[in-house]
Amino acid sequence: MKGVPFNPDKDIPDLSGKVIFVTGGTSGIGKGSVLSFAKHKPAHIYFTGRNSKSATEVINEVTALAPDVQTTFLECDFASLASASKAIKRFTSERLDILVCNAGIISEKPALTKDGYEIDFGTNHLGHALIIKLLLPTLLRTAEYHDADVRIVILSSQGFRLHPKSGIVFKELQTTQEDYIHWVRYGQSKLANILYAAELARRYPQITTVSLHPGVAGTNMVANMSTANRWLIYVTSLGRLLTPEQGAYNSLWAATSDKGKIVNGEYYEPVGKRGTHDKQSNDAKLAEELWEYTETQLSAYWYVLQCFEGIVVIDSTSKEHRLRTYMSYPHTSCSIN
Ligand SMILES: NC(=O)c1ccc[n+]([C@@H]2O[C@H](COP(=O)([O-])OP(=O)(O)OC[C@H]3O[C@@H](n4cnc5c(N)ncnc54)[C@H](OP(=O)(O)O)[C@@H]3O)[C@@H](O)[C@H]2O)c1
Repeated sequence: MKGVPFNPDKDIPDLSGKVIFVTGGTSGIGKGSVLSFAKHKPAHIYFTGRNSKSATEVINEVTALAPDVQTTFLECDFASLASASKAIKRFTSERLDILVCNAGIISEKPALTKDGYEIDFGTNHLGHALIIKLLLPTLLRTAEYHDADVRIVILSSQGFRLHPKSGIVFKELQTTQEDYIHWVRYGQSKLANILYAAELARRYPQITTVSLHPGVAGTNMVANMSTANRWLIYVTSLGRLLTPEQGAYNSLWAATSDKGKIVNGEYYEPVGKRGTHDKQSNDAKLAEELWEYTETQLSAYWYVLQCFEGIVVIDSTSKEHRLRTYMSYPHTSCSIN
């Protein structure tokens, strides 16, 4: 790996008192991140995933490494906004110092999330945008503490460059986008990760938010690909394939290295190297458009969720949009007003 010298065992400072949240901590790069963080004694690590058996193994490994570190698994499917918000209800900490948005998929088959979004975009961006929104009050409160250094780290990929020509095809995000090959759909979701990190940094400068490429690592994401795609990865990264633990280095660097060395909102390649952008990944207008789109989708979802729970909310989205969202949840019994 090029970039700055980084050895997590030596270079991560003492994390005493810090609360850390890692999405997709049950395997691969996320698991590597959880285990490395644990060695530096944070107060509490929350991590998500769908596989509770793998989660128990991670908790056992953390306990063996660092018995004083509290670990909580929050079961969560990012392809379902209801599941993501349910998981966050179980997050009870008063503070949150480091949020690593790591969970991700590349779906070779065109598909939709439970809420009807293109599956890579819905899982890699929208599900995460919801948890960021729900955790923001705690992150912002923590940022007010004396000596606070709050970080959001969002895993993107160098593959963002494969996005559709226009960047993000907003009008097709509630379709499977089957006219594109899967690399393009993945690229679109990973471009969204870069743009969203930049926009978060613009809107909340008191938090350090970056996106990054972890390097190409031999994780389940690669192992579960079709033979042709797997070999494509192996051949194009010959001699450079990282272990899942090494794949966590850039995330760990972004989450813990000296804040003065990090440019808020930037995209990094491994390790700690400012990444090269293309026109779309550097487009502040596109980032704002993605922010507005995301807010609109989440507000409409939020309205429906409150209906499920019988809570009346004041909602800023249009009646037409609420109605469309409401229709996609046929079991609600609330009225649209
Ligand atoms: N590996 C690489 O070469 C590479 C390259 C560039 C970028 N990345 C990025 O790095 C991140 C981590 O990837 P990885 O290689 O470590 O993959 P991985 O080994 O497949 O791990 C993915 C993690 O995400 C979780 N996850 C997947 N789908 C989920 C869903 N629908 N809901 C909730 N959790 C879900 C998995 O948990 P469960 O299995 O428990 O659900 C797992 O913990 C991803 O964002 C990926 O895009 C990886």
